[in-house]
Amino acid sequence: MESLLISQKQIARRIKSLSKEIQQEFEGRELTIVAVLNGTVLFLADLVRHLPLPMRLDFVGVSSYGAGTASGELVFTKELRLDVRGRDVLLVDDILDTGKTLKRVLDKLWKLEPRRIKTCVFLEKKARRVEDVKADFVGFSVPDLFVVGYGLDYAERYRNLPFVAVLRPELYTAQPEKVASESRAK
Ligand code: IMP
Ligand code: MG
Repeated sequence: MESLLISQKQIARRIKSLSKEIQQEFEGRELTIVAVLNGTVLFLADLVRHLPLPMRLDFVGVSSYGAGTASGELVFTKELRLDVRGRDVLLVDDILDTGKTLKRVLDKLWKLEPRRIKTCVFLEKKARRVEDVKADFVGFSVPDLFVVGYGLDYAERYRNLPFVAVLRPELYTAQPEKVASESRAK
């Protein structure tokens, strides 16, 4: 790791205030949360524990080809099972970067005719946006650096870190297998 970017304490504090914002928005309505796998698991688990609203929870799987840092061609690896027609949907993702993932999922969800969709992301990087998509609820805005932890991965690793850290650039320019052994040694 290069440096700690967001501590466990900062995350816990922000989740509390974020959940209040979301609660106000959906007050009195049953919420259908659609979370994007796999990066949302830690964020989602903490967030829903602070949301005293009636809710249903489902997941969509979206993957880009290639295991590295770039978001390439997107494929759906898990489809939504719940019916969202006429429902209040909160779409949750780990990080809004280029916006390609959120745009793809939003286009698909709107076709199912929900009453409304609000979007919530744990992190956003404003610098790299290519799609015209915004998040209604944002945990933290981060600079244009590759970050890992609290659900975010590099080549499926580091998701379990309870904080957010910046990955050393020389790691993600190296080979993934080499990365794993190098990082274990440090
Ligand atoms: P987008 O489609 O470019 O907005 O990218 C969204 C996806 O790219 C996220 O769901 C992450 O899986 C991945 N991603 C983008 N930036 C980072 C990062 O800094 N760390 C880890 N994953 C990232
Ligand atoms: Mg990822």
